[in-house]
Amino acid sequence: MLNILIFGPPGCGKGTQSEFLVNQYNLKHLSTGDIFRENIKNKTDLGVEAKKYIDQGQLVPDFITIDMLGKKMKNKNEFSGFLFDGFPRTKKQAESLDDFLLKMNQEISMMICIDVPEEELVSRLLKRGESSNRADDQNKEIILNRIKVYKEQTEILKDYYQQKNKFFNINGDSTINDVKRKIFSLIDIYQK
Ligand code: AP5
Ligand code: MG
Repeated sequence: MLNILIFGPPGCGKGTQSEFLVNQYNLKHLSTGDIFRENIKNKTDLGVEAKKYIDQGQLVPDFITIDMLGKKMKNKNEFSGFLFDGFPRTKKQAESLDDFLLKMNQEISMMICIDVPEEELVSRLLKRGESSNRADDQNKEIILNRIKVYKEQTEILKDYYQQKNKFFNINGDSTINDVKRKIFSLIDIYQK
């Protein structure tokens, strides 16, 4: 099985690259951000609760997020692995993910981090905010808060996976196609 974790700051291209990866490697895409947004759209209890945090650019509390992800991780026999996008974002989430996978006799194969300078992240997200209805893309302050939260609470996970020799970094400050090629090549080398 190939279990990939696509990682990096808000706007680095996790969702964009996930679309290519799921097709190329037959992976089950699990994006906690997408699952939350679906719940917000459908006004479920989970969505109403999560929206309070997401609209401010804060993390949704671990107990809510971990419980939600766990329920989505049923054995997916038709897939060759999972692609985790936007999860884990805290050490507690990373440890829970290890536990979930262990119960399925699985583990994370690689964490691929997409590195993009802050000015570029802000410009991409403000641009998307003009046409998307994502509340957290609507102003620079919230975008900067998302980046701050990433630096303070999430970026430490690079060390967590580095210590397990699973951390791979790529420069994401280039075209979508170029980033895609770099990620595919990392995975293809890993699989050889
Ligand atoms: P989430 O949905 O995960 O959002 P995010 O991490 O803030 O990042 P985005 O999805 O906005 O960016 P991305 O890296 O996917 O880039 P994308 O491909 O879209 O989380 C949202 C919120 O939900 C969090 O703030 C939190 O509140 C909550 N949440 C989610 N998971 C959680 C968790 N585990 N724990 C607690 N809370 C959680 O690209 C961005 C834009 O750039 C697009 O317009 C795209 O077209 C463009 N673009 C992409 N690549 C390139 C390129 N190479 N060149 C130019 N433009 C590009
Ligand atoms: Mg995304």
